[in-house]
Amino acid sequence: MDTGPTQGAAALYLDYARRWFTGHSELYTQWAEGVAGSVALLELVSGLPAPKRQPNLVFAAARFHGCPDEPFSVLEAYLATHWAEIRAIVMTHATQTNEAGRCATLLPALAMVAAQEQRPLALIEVGPSAGLCLLPDLYSYSYDGGPVLGTGSPLLRCATTGDPPLPSTLPGIAWRAGVDLNPLDGTEPDTVAWLRALVWPGQEDRRAQLDAALATLAALKSGALPGVAGPPLLLAGDLNECVADLVDAAPRHAVPVVMHSAVLAYLDEARRTAFAETIASLGCRWISNEAFFMDVSNHTREVSDVNRFTLSLDRVPLARTGQHGAQLDWL
Ligand SMILES: C[S@@+](CC[C@H](N)C(=O)[O-])C[C@H]1O[C@@H](n2cnc3c(N)ncnc32)[C@H](O)[C@@H]1O
Repeated sequence: MDTGPTQGAAALYLDYARRWFTGHSELYTQWAEGVAGSVALLELVSGLPAPKRQPNLVFAAARFHGCPDEPFSVLEAYLATHWAEIRAIVMTHATQTNEAGRCATLLPALAMVAAQEQRPLALIEVGPSAGLCLLPDLYSYSYDGGPVLGTGSPLLRCATTGDPPLPSTLPGIAWRAGVDLNPLDGTEPDTVAWLRALVWPGQEDRRAQLDAALATLAALKSGALPGVAGPPLLLAGDLNECVADLVDAAPRHAVPVVMHSAVLAYLDEARRTAFAETIASLGCRWISNEAFFMDVSNHTREVSDVNRFTLSLDRVPLARTGQHGAQLDWL
């Protein structure tokens, strides 16, 4: 046995347990520590291509296949018994978690643009997954337990500090579009099951929020929500190659707003810089909610806390945000 890859996999699983899962999912912490201590499982996961070894992908694949949210001994037996099928799921799926809750942290920036421009918005999301963050006008919001804004579902709750400029009405959305390497159809049952499997165990409130957002998407697609901009137009492609075409295709009466969250981590520095330079040339507004913050010279700097994003509008940082949209700390 080559100990190199298995030792690397053990370190990876322990790192995820310590930095990502602790405090967020007790079961995933236990599972990752368990895998890191199991020679047999380390041999299985280290046989995957390196980008496919990440524990959140392997665990989601196991749960998608049917592994129950039970203690590590159950996962251990399940992976050993069903590895060929789980491996196939890992190889054909990616961590495309779509978090509608992020709309609660995007909303103040969207409302600022709408107020400044006095026109409806043409939303263009790069890396939208199934497009749930393209429906901010169809959800409702409560900040710090205050009055509910909007009538849609889910109701997104968000705690704030720093007195953010919270809107009193939802911005008008005229058009929704996006480009993803692998756009997902959030009304397709297997895709819904995959998106549900991507929500970590112990985060049932996020799972319920996802279900409600998917129901809103389904209602929009079925035509049950008259009077609002139609379902997102989702293209398959690379953001650097397609974003200009989408900005160009936006209806002229609307303000094109390119936005993204939890996407730049998938790009290397050169492609992030190329993206920032493209955006600068397009004459659109730009909302970024990422672990990376792009400065005026288009260089990216990483937020030091792994569980926090920086929300920025046209490169100006506005807030630090909780990764899933439950916290907004205005700067
Ligand atoms: C973690 S998901 C985030 C989805 C959504 N933005 C949200 O906040 O819920 C990241 C998405 O970015 C997409 N992605 C990664 N690199 C991309 C690229 N170069 N071009 C287009 N999409 C990309 C992935 O396919 C995935 O759907």
